[in-house]
Amino acid sequence: MAWRPAPPPSSDEVAIAENHESWDAVAPVHAQGGGAEFYRIEQWLAGECKLGPWEIDELGDVAGKSLLHMQCHIGTDTLSWARRGARVTGLDFAQNALTEARRFAEILGIDDAHFVHSTVASAADTLAGEQFDILYTGRGALCWLPDLDEWASVCARLVKPGGLLYLEESTPFVNTLEPRETSEGAIFAPKYDLFHDGPISEIGEGSYADPNWEGERVTHCWEYRYDTVINALVNNGFEIESMVERDELFFDPWPDKFEPSRPNYWRLKEGEVRFPLSFTLKARRV
Ligand SMILES: C[S@@+](CC[C@H](N)C(=O)[O-])C[C@H]1O[C@@H](n2cnc3c(N)ncnc32)[C@H](O)[C@@H]1O
Repeated sequence: MAWRPAPPPSSDEVAIAENHESWDAVAPVHAQGGGAEFYRIEQWLAGECKLGPWEIDELGDVAGKSLLHMQCHIGTDTLSWARRGARVTGLDFAQNALTEARRFAEILGIDDAHFVHSTVASAADTLAGEQFDILYTGRGALCWLPDLDEWASVCARLVKPGGLLYLEESTPFVNTLEPRETSEGAIFAPKYDLFHDGPISEIGEGSYADPNWEGERVTHCWEYRYDTVINALVNNGFEIESMVERDELFFDPWPDKFEPSRPNYWRLKEGEVRFPLSFTLKARRV
């Protein structure tokens, strides 16, 4: 997977449009092509759960609750919550991802799952006043959004008073570091300036789920510090109930340094100095 810097976008709208194109291209690959191995589509269709065990514990019993999955991609996580009894709505701006999600819902016979086409920015308008018991998101979602304050204000409109927002994301450590070759082997070095406002823009082939996929795509990602995430939520009507950091991650950013820890998760290899790789955050709508 060869990635190189791309010119910065002329506006957030241009960045979102290019990201949209990129996600529409990779969604079928993730659902049906080489990426299906990363997503463990076969095992998942046969009954394996895509959710982290801590997500299930921390969110508690979802049976009978309405759950909105923002940036649902191909619906594997959304439908995993449906299997646990939630009444699910998935939302994404990539039509191709929604087509795959609807196909999976049909295969699994989950008739009451809804998949809605919308950007995050217009999600509350698209859902026309509908509010949910739970808003679930993350695992590579926030980095696609140029403005977390806008995101949190949209989330606040979509969660019922007293309802929950729950997310799992990679930590700022993971988002800013990359391994660099030195005479003593590869060491982690800072790559992304977490105090820089703009996105990191890259062009290349492959995806985190299928490094061998040959389609070229441009991506623009914003990497966030904890304070940006937490203040956006607090300033838009949420109270933080818990935040937990873990030494496992929902993708494998550096195969030389990581090994599988359980299905759908990876950790640093034995001998590496550990640092937090992912975190979950639970916030209640006041
Ligand atoms: C890595 S996936 C995260 C979902 C889930 N963790 C997964 O891997 O199946 C990111 C998703 O965000 C969606 N996305 C990115 N920017 C978006 C935006 N501005 N509005 C709506 N969806 C967006 C993409 O289409 C993609 O499906």
